[in-house]
Amino acid sequence: MDNTSQILERSAELFSGQRLLLVNPPADGLTRSLSADWTLWCWDYASSRGLAGALPEERLVFSHLCPQVDDLDAAILVMPKAIERAEYALAQMVPLLAQGKPVYLVGEKKGGITRAEKLLGRYGAHPEKLDSARHCQLWRVIVDQPVAPFLLEDWRQQYELRFDDQPLQLVSLPGVFSHGRLDEGSELLLAEQRPLPAGRVLDFGCGSGVLSLVMARRNPGCRFELVDIDALAIYCARQSLALNGVEAEVHASDGLSDVHGRFSAVISNPPFHTGIRQDTSIAERFFEQVTRNLQPGGELRIVANGFLRYPPLIEEHIGPCQVLRENNRFKVYSAVAPG
Ligand SMILES: C[S@@+](CC[C@H](N)C(=O)[O-])C[C@H]1O[C@@H](n2cnc3c(N)ncnc32)[C@H](O)[C@@H]1O
Repeated sequence: MDNTSQILERSAELFSGQRLLLVNPPADGLTRSLSADWTLWCWDYASSRGLAGALPEERLVFSHLCPQVDDLDAAILVMPKAIERAEYALAQMVPLLAQGKPVYLVGEKKGGITRAEKLLGRYGAHPEKLDSARHCQLWRVIVDQPVAPFLLEDWRQQYELRFDDQPLQLVSLPGVFSHGRLDEGSELLLAEQRPLPAGRVLDFGCGSGVLSLVMARRNPGCRFELVDIDALAIYCARQSLALNGVEAEVHASDGLSDVHGRFSAVISNPPFHTGIRQDTSIAERFFEQVTRNLQPGGELRIVANGFLRYPPLIEEHIGPCQVLRENNRFKVYSAVAPG
C-alpha cells in the first residue's frame, strides 16, 4: 500500500464508518482495508483504472470536477505534485463540507506536504499536524468559516498564442502542463513545418492540445486523436479544440492503454518525470509499444530534452532516428516505421 494510505490507515479511528470523500487516491487497497462510505475523485486515469472494481462505478469519478457528495463527514486530499492543483482541488472539496467538519491533507514530505499549513489555513484557524510516518505527514483543519462556491471560470485560463502562420486560443487549468504558456520543447517541435503523412495522427500526452491544434491547421489531410492521463488536460484539450473550430477526438489513456489501431503519424512531447522523482519510464514504454500503433511508413515525431538518451530506444523499436531540429536544450526527432 502507498505510504500515504498507510498513514491514513494508522489513523483509522478518525475515518472508520464515516462518509468520506478521498481525492487523488493512489491505486491501492485503502478503501477495502479501511471500512467507510467512500467516494473517490481521481484525475489520474492510471489510478482510476487501477481502482475500478474496488467501488461501485458511481463512487469512483474520473473527471476535472469534484463529484457533488452530500452530508460528508470529512474530505481527504492526497497531495498532488503541483501545489496549484492542490488549491484547485481544495476549492472544490471544502464547499461540500459543513462548518465544523474536517478536511485532511496527506502527502510525502518531499512532495509539498510542508505547504499543508498554508493550504489548510485558508479554511480554518488551526491547521494541525496529526501524524508523521513513512516519510509522510497527515494534516487536518476544521472548517470554521463560510467558503465561496467553486466556479470553474475562476480557475480556467484562456490565452492566445501567436505562431507565424496562425493565432491560437488555448484553455488551461492548474497543474496542466505548461499552464498558461507554451513550453520551449513544444515550441521547437512546432517550428518544424514539414508535413505529416496524411491519415490518422495520434497526439500522445496532449496536455491542453497545442501540438494538434497547430498541426491540424497545417495538415488538412490528417485526423487527430489526442490522449492524456490527466482529466484536466483532457477537458482543456477539448475546450481548446472547440474554441479554435478544430475537430478531433480526445480521450483518456495511460500510456497507450486505450489507443487502438494504426496511425500514419504519432506526435508527442513525451512526459519524462512523474511525481517527485525524475523518470523516463513512461517515454521508454511508449517507444516500445508505439510500433504497434504505427502504420508501415508511419512517422514518429517527438521533442525531448537533448540529454535524454532516446535515440537508441527509438532506433531499437521503430527505425533510424533523424534529428530534425535542435537548440541548446531540446531536440526534435523523427523516425519512420519500416514500410
Ligand atoms: C510534456 S507534457 C506535453 C503536453 C503537450 N503535448 C504540450 O506540448 O504542451 C506531457 C503530457 O503527458 C501526460 N502524461 C503523463 N503521463 C502519461 C501517461 N502515462 N499516459 C498518457 N499521458 C501521460 C501529462 O499529463 C502531460 O500532459
